[in-house]
Amino acid sequence: MLELKNISVKVTEDNKELQILKDINLQLEKKKIYVMTGPNGGGKSSIAKTIMGIYRPATGQILLDGVDITEKNISERAQMGIGYAFQQPPRFKGIRVRELLEIASGQEMDDDDCDVLYDVGLCTKDYLDREINAGFSGGELKRIEIATLLSRKLKVAVFDEPEAGIDLWSFQQLTETFQNIHQKYDTTLVIISHQERILRLAHEIIVIDQGRVREITSKEKFLAELEKIDTDCRCRDDCIKGDLANAECDR
Ligand SMILES: Nc1ncnc2c1ncn2[C@@H]1O[C@H](COP(=O)(O)OP(=O)(O)O)[C@@H](O)[C@H]1O
Ligand SMILES: [Mg+2]
Repeated sequence: MLELKNISVKVTEDNKELQILKDINLQLEKKKIYVMTGPNGGGKSSIAKTIMGIYRPATGQILLDGVDITEKNISERAQMGIGYAFQQPPRFKGIRVRELLEIASGQEMDDDDCDVLYDVGLCTKDYLDREINAGFSGGELKRIEIATLLSRKLKVAVFDEPEAGIDLWSFQQLTETFQNIHQKYDTTLVIISHQERILRLAHEIIVIDQGRVREITSKEKFLAELEKIDTDCRCRDDCIKGDLANAECDR
């Protein structure tokens, strides 16, 4: 469905060229949940931005249902069914939820076809005509942003650390929301996360490290390895020796 072939991405910083992604190869299938994880600075957000067309690859190709979209810009990709949820959802001050959904979907929202709010765990009648303001919690904003993506009936939706900025209670609901979305929609979900609850949703886990795909694995295998880190590692030195430098195990 979405294919990244030999993608490398370079950026220029202080007149120096940095290669932030190196030979990325990924094949994402319809309706599957992929969780991208790995150390901070590894390149996860850069892959998301490359999928969305915010970063242009120096080499390689991106195919959506077999169509080469490498040269397509952000809005063309959005129209073709690719969506990206920001780490911190923007606050559209003064706009009503209904209007936001209408802008996103390009369609008028009937009270009846406003299932997207229900699908993200918000009561349609309570929210549809509410104005978005500072009174909205991080969790509510995140849900509304996800609803805008759902209203677009996307082929691929990328969520960059959706847990950021929301409380534990909302986080619990968020994992359920992803599960519901998966059951109801054909959208392929790519979720960037470090959270075990989110990792547990994955059909495949993609580990990104130092600008490369380090591993594509099942959640069972990945979580079993995580448990091993918990019991085997007693200090960071051990982790480094075991090539697990990023494990949080220095107790
Ligand atoms: N526009 C940019 N300019 C300079 N460096 C960048 C840019 N985008 C990403 N990087 C660098 O690329 C690396 C990967 O970043 P990122 O994709 O944000 O990692 P992650 O999301 O896995 O934490 C980091 O070292 C980051 O500083
Ligand atoms: Mg990131």
